[in-house]
Amino acid sequence: MEKITDYLCRYKNYNFALDVATAEYIDSLQSFEVRDSDVLLVTYPKSGTIWTQQITTSIFESEEDAPAYPNNLERMPWLEYPEGHDDYSLRPSPRLFASHLTPALIPPGLRHKRAKIIYVIRNPKDVAVSYYHFCAAWAKLETPKSFDDFLEQYLAGNVGAASWFDHIREWHSKRDQYNILFLSYEDMVLDLKTAVTKICRFLGKELSNGAIDQVVHKSTFKNMKKDSKANYEFLPPDLLNGKFMRKGKIGDWKNHFTVAQSERFDRIFQERIGDLALTFSWDAAKEPQEH
Ligand code: A3P
Repeated sequence: MEKITDYLCRYKNYNFALDVATAEYIDSLQSFEVRDSDVLLVTYPKSGTIWTQQITTSIFESEEDAPAYPNNLERMPWLEYPEGHDDYSLRPSPRLFASHLTPALIPPGLRHKRAKIIYVIRNPKDVAVSYYHFCAAWAKLETPKSFDDFLEQYLAGNVGAASWFDHIREWHSKRDQYNILFLSYEDMVLDLKTAVTKICRFLGKELSNGAIDQVVHKSTFKNMKKDSKANYEFLPPDLLNGKFMRKGKIGDWKNHFTVAQSERFDRIFQERIGDLALTFSWDAAKEPQEH
């Protein structure tokens, strides 16, 4: 891995925080044995990972013989971080994993539509704002000097997980190789029940209407925020000095971007991924009051 800043190192066009993974470990994922029943949640950071993790783990938990795990991180660990995990080959099926990795780095066994991938995408301006705040809270990332400074690094891909634009392009262009469900954070905010129902259908889980309502209830911002298995407050404060559950809103970028920054962002968006046929309700005018 090539160290690129005091906080980041680069490997195969992807940026890792220092010391969270080794090249050997990431390379070992190339021979990771995938099971058909595996579920992988993939996101660019700050796109709603722990939210979708809560939804997915809750869907599986509603099965009677579901194994008990102390928290969502242990039920659905990050594929790319070797620290302290058990031997995944001994885990009972279905195994659930989360990842921020790009297609080049994930186990090739996931191709050919084996296993299921859920990919969550979020308005990249809101991702930038969420990431900016998160960098101040997460000890392994550099606290930005200012939002303007962070935005430059983000646009240049000099942040953890590298460029948002590359991540989206990579996953979008390879989508036919995978059994993949694309969801948007905004659609989840606007209609959580429909999103949960879609995830159930994709996972082949036939939950009753009542059980779906239970998953929705557990996954609202308000309820997740006080759920100690889901809110990541179980992490040591020297690692996370702040909250994963910050605002959970669509459009907080409007409180952070200047008009000039927003226009520049839009231009870069067009140049970088304007050719992809992506349609999202990013700027939906109506957001539910309570979610
Ligand atoms: P904000 O910082 O904008 O509030 P990730 O899990 O990928 O790191 O994403 C974190 C973002 O998802 C944070 O965004 C967090 O508040 C938001 N989030 C987490 N749970 C949520 C929920 N139940 N509803 C809406 N947003 C949620």
